[in-house]
Amino acid sequence: MTDRTEQGADAAGTPKDARPIKLACRNVWKLFGSNAANFIRERDGKASMAEVAAAGLVGAVRAVDLEIRQGEIFIIMGLSGSGKSTLVRCMSRLVEPTHGKVEFEGKDLLKISDAALIELRRHRMGMVFQNFALLPHLNVLENIAFPLSIQGQDRPTREARAREVIDLVGLRGREQFYPRELSGGQQQRVGIARSLATKPEIWFLDEPFSALDPLIRREMQDELMRLQTMLHKTIVFITHDFDEAIRLADRIAIMKDGEVIQIGTPEELVVDPATDYVAEFTRDVDRAKVISARGLMRACDGSDHGGTVAPDAKIASFSASIVAAGKPFAVVNGTGKPIGEVTPQAVIDLLAGIDRSGAGA
Ligand SMILES: Nc1ncnc2c1ncn2[C@@H]1O[C@H](COP(=O)(O)OP(=O)(O)OP(=O)(O)O)[C@@H](O)[C@H]1O
Ligand SMILES: [Mg+2]
Repeated sequence: MTDRTEQGADAAGTPKDARPIKLACRNVWKLFGSNAANFIRERDGKASMAEVAAAGLVGAVRAVDLEIRQGEIFIIMGLSGSGKSTLVRCMSRLVEPTHGKVEFEGKDLLKISDAALIELRRHRMGMVFQNFALLPHLNVLENIAFPLSIQGQDRPTREARAREVIDLVGLRGREQFYPRELSGGQQQRVGIARSLATKPEIWFLDEPFSALDPLIRREMQDELMRLQTMLHKTIVFITHDFDEAIRLADRIAIMKDGEVIQIGTPEELVVDPATDYVAEFTRDVDRAKVISARGLMRACDGSDHGGTVAPDAKIASFSASIVAAGKPFAVVNGTGKPIGEVTPQAVIDLLAGIDRSGAGA
């Protein structure tokens, strides 16, 4: 896998944070129950969980603010029922938010006409679902070409495009197979190909791999990363699995009871979890694969260096060599200038799960 944070910039060298915002949620609410819209409007878009419950409403999504940048892989995590699917559906207005704004390239999606919304969904958004959602009576080629027929493309054009994406996801030779003749992984490749057929700019994936066994799941994660290096989509990806999240994510949003309680890079969530709930998600993570040299570095104290590392290099990538060298490694910036050092002891402590941050080590 490519180490995404290590790159810190896209192929054109644009720093990630300088990329335009593709999609934003501004105080987005989705409440289920009668009179929900009045309830939240009367309170000017503010209500506690207790107030929502007292009014007999379900607070599926509450006061969500987030910004997703172009080309970013933005992961949404949370326990079952925390509101992930509802939030993602609000982003494409498959579910109508009760309150707030969803901005697509700065335009309020809740204000555009139904026709414009359908256009947007058909041409600029793609979706992949956990249960694959293939049409059982259509073969692979027809399933993948299906959204193009909805767009009104003629048969030769849509089949040509379907064949392109079939190649892209490695399904050549299976064009005539029906969904029931495919494995779970193959079915999800069809789901992915179908959602890519229309060349969406923003791609929503709701637990696309959770029905797959662990080996196939990893393979599909690699596949997604491979596709992303070619296609540079803006991706919103839901998962329950923090390991999956850290493999794929630029940033992760953690949801609980309809709220987003923290948004950060995998490293930020692991090093500085906002709540016990976030800490619980990150508990079993291999910290050496998430924490970077920058996260472990201290000021140089004049000792000899046994090597150099980049600030964004993950500890796991140099733990063996620094321990073998038995000397600190200089952490150097892009011009080769040392900005600090990492000691073998700090690496050993991290690997052993010893936290000396309070002890001044
Ligand atoms: N149509 C609906 N009517 C009433 N409540 C709903 C409706 N849809 C969702 N909910 C409730 O909203 C909450 C969030 O549901 P959602 O499906 O978004 O959760 P999720 O995080 O995607 O869960 P999972 O991980 O199980 O898919 C849940 O409490 C759910 O019961
Ligand atoms: Mg869901």
